Amino acid sequence: MEPAPVIPTTSPLVGAPDRAQREAVLAEYLAAHRRIATRFGVAEDPDGLAALAAWYTPPADARGAVLLDDALFLWDMVRCVRPRTMVELGTASGVSTAVLLRAMADAHADAPWRVETFDLLSHVYWDARVPVGYAAARMAPSLADRVAIHAGRVAADIGREFGPRGARRGALLSLVFIDACHKHPYPVADLLGVLPALAPGAWVILHDINLPARAADYAARTGESVHWGERGAQRLYDAWPHEKIAGGGAVPNIGAVRLPERVPGERFDAACLRGLIGEPWECEPDAATLSRLEAVLHPPLRARVVAAARRALGRA
Ligand SMILES: C[S@@+](CC[C@H](N)C(=O)[O-])C[C@H]1O[C@@H](n2cnc3c(N)ncnc32)[C@H](O)[C@@H]1O
Repeated sequence: MEPAPVIPTTSPLVGAPDRAQREAVLAEYLAAHRRIATRFGVAEDPDGLAALAAWYTPPADARGAVLLDDALFLWDMVRCVRPRTMVELGTASGVSTAVLLRAMADAHADAPWRVETFDLLSHVYWDARVPVGYAAARMAPSLADRVAIHAGRVAADIGREFGPRGARRGALLSLVFIDACHKHPYPVADLLGVLPALAPGAWVILHDINLPARAADYAARTGESVHWGERGAQRLYDAWPHEKIAGGGAVPNIGAVRLPERVPGERFDAACLRGLIGEPWECEPDAATLSRLEAVLHPPLRARVVAAARRALGRA
């Protein structure tokens, strides 16, 4: 029997930060804002950052959503990469979707842009009566017509739809946000799923790259035993062999990894992820996810010959 998709059952409520919390988060984040602006060669914009912090007000019932420091990083990455289409995997309430809407509006002014968000479920994971993405229209009502919510869809749908043979005619993506299942090996498998849709040099933002530490801290503060300290995103971020950039604070929980810059049509060599995939798994993935991982671990003979030829040509 095929294993069921891995859905979290619950996680802490986020709630809106009060004024003192906003100011503290903003002050702590500013060094990351400068670092990211310098990396991308864009001007710093502390006022824009402060406006985002003042605006960030998630609904009180939203669970598992990006926190304010994560939202500031999303805003920075959108501002620096300036994708025309921003794709997200893992909608849940839609708090992060609203942040992406706001970031895209700030980055593009009058130029055309869209946000597309994908989730395995059609309802939020803690209440079957509430549709995924409901918070996006609440937090960013004037931008609600810019988002498409794709319920019941997974990483491979993004790869198919935006990939070279997909319905979007290969409008490859320069920035994607993955915030879906955090159990290893799902984050790495999700990255492989969206890979056909990614442009050379694309950035992939990963949420919860320090979830075990955050969960341990939460358990210590509240005395509750927690089940959500999953390691998948952390393993992927830590093992990534190419460029990466982390968010703010002493223990940033969000970061982005970059595909090597290559000419269009030349594939990123996923073989560099074999060691990571071989780390102990936290769950048994569904069949499609499993076969994506298998293809990296044990590529068919033809793919091995092509890879060997490419390596030989690279040496010539
Ligand atoms: C942590 S929540 C996302 C939170 C959201 N990004 C935010 O900040 O408001 C994770 C979401 O990923 C979805 N999910 C879990 N496994 C998935 C998969 N394999 N593919 C797509 N979505 C998945 C869950 O249904 C859930 O809604």
